[in-house]
Amino acid sequence: MRQLTIAIDGYSSCGKSTLAKEIAQKLNYIYADSGAMYRAVTLHMLNKGILKDGAFITAQAVQELKDINIRFEFDSKVNRSETYLNGINVEKDIRNSRITKHVSVISAVKEVREKLVEIQQEMGVEGGVVMDGRDIGTVVFPNAEIKLFMTASNQIRAERRYKELKEKGENISLEQVATDLQKRDHYDMNREISPLRKAEDAIEIDNSELDRTHQLELALSIIDKKKVQLEEKV
Ligand code: DC
Repeated sequence: MRQLTIAIDGYSSCGKSTLAKEIAQKLNYIYADSGAMYRAVTLHMLNKGILKDGAFITAQAVQELKDINIRFEFDSKVNRSETYLNGINVEKDIRNSRITKHVSVISAVKEVREKLVEIQQEMGVEGGVVMDGRDIGTVVFPNAEIKLFMTASNQIRAERRYKELKEKGENISLEQVATDLQKRDHYDMNREISPLRKAEDAIEIDNSELDRTHQLELALSIIDKKKVQLEEKV
């Protein structure tokens, strides 16, 4: 049977990437973090001074896109794929609050999305990929065999993100984290192009009360059921 395409979408800090990585590992599929690509473009625009104080000129940003090359490379030492921007490993640089604060405005630019969606679709041509993001089930892989949509309560998401940032040594309050999350979700859901929304055929997983093991078990049982249905069809 052809390897499947698995699309995982949802709000910020819902544990999408944790689940996507674990599914990919279990099934021996490739994990692709589409958010990392939007983060890498944002880092590039900041480095080049095109994005400054939260503002940028769209034409300048679009012009710059041709000089941006993004790829993932698996590092067996850390057992995960890392993000490369123009040949440089930027995995750490794209995960801080500065990038998080600016990424929504960059990811709302039509040409940025077109470029990244094209790369993402190429990654999924052969199947055997688990990709997480905001528009994977709706735009990138509308024909994905499995579509999951993750949610969790605002409080739980803020607490998870706060813990993550604290572990990285960032000085931020829980209230600020909660406000930032709400803002980013609002922006991602209300942008004109490819807004975050649940695909009609996506299965929702609310993991407010689920730990990692149970979340993975639930997702794998959804995938197994789907595989049986697909095998019955042939
Ligand atoms: O998943 P993340 O937090 O790393 O994503 C960072 C941002 O990138 C998110 O706020 C919205 C944007 N994004 C997007 O617009 N489409 C995607 N498929 C993935 C991320």
